[in-house]
Amino acid sequence: MKVLITRKIPDAGIRLLKEHPELELDYRQGAPLSKEELIKAIKDADAIIPVIPDQIDADIINAADNLKLIATYSVGYDHINLEAAKSKSVYVSNTPGDLTESVAEHTIALMMAVGKKIVQGDKYVREGNYNYWDPMLYLGPQFMGKTLGIVGFGRIGQHVADIARDGFNMRIVYSDPKVIPNSGAERLSLEELLETSDVISLNCNLCPATHHLIDEAQLKMMKPTAILINTARGPVINEKALMRALEEEWIEGAGLDVFEEEPNVPEELRDLKNVVLTPHIASATREARIEMATMAAKNVIEVLVNGNEPVNKVA
Ligand code: DGY
Repeated sequence: MKVLITRKIPDAGIRLLKEHPELELDYRQGAPLSKEELIKAIKDADAIIPVIPDQIDADIINAADNLKLIATYSVGYDHINLEAAKSKSVYVSNTPGDLTESVAEHTIALMMAVGKKIVQGDKYVREGNYNYWDPMLYLGPQFMGKTLGIVGFGRIGQHVADIARDGFNMRIVYSDPKVIPNSGAERLSLEELLETSDVISLNCNLCPATHHLIDEAQLKMMKPTAILINTARGPVINEKALMRALEEEWIEGAGLDVFEEEPNVPEELRDLKNVVLTPHIASATREARIEMATMAAKNVIEVLVNGNEPVNKVA
């Protein structure tokens, strides 16, 4: 049975798959496959381990003759057409829980980088501008005791809350369709959260309800000193509206790990000084990546070798 792995992943997952001689690996380790290459490669595959930039749409799924499982190497699965998978009785699995700590840490890192002007300060020194100490240079917030608003209070959002509460004694508020009991955080409407938070962290899934959840009107509700962090998915923010908000300083700054049309990041956004940008690496710790590879491999083995449903079935 053929398993297509579209990108290089940690050996931990590959070793697990290789323990099963009945699995033949088509292990691509170079540049991302084009749509045409993917269509060709998936034709006789029994399972695929794609990564998030691989758009597993209806064309790809319908091009597969034997596909039983799409075991994405990610927690998010907004790059997979679940309807098309369902209509061909193909399972979809993900890797939940493996990157909670890593993404939460990156969220805090972006908050600190934006607030403490780390990137601007680094550039200033490297470019030889540090000629005298300036009491008014790069002023930013002290986070201790401030309010952190978390949009999407699942595993990652709750871990961000723990770090911010334990480390900075921050007051935590959240907006989420679900009430999270005993969280030590106050549940607010999105509007209330945006109006009262000093830092806003987006930690929700991308779905029709969260597409452009943060648009011009929402950006205008934020404090002029607010810092907005997105480690969720790019389209949760209307990027054009955000660029205007940053340009016109409706808010103090933003930290973005995700973008509306990855890997394209508009030049206008790259030119702004009050934003810190990272290339979708919030989960890029060695620990999380190994766990992702292990979980994806276990899902494949469960379906192809053991004949069961995947361990982490999403559809
Ligand atoms: C995920 O898993 O959904 C992350 O965005 C990428 O690792």
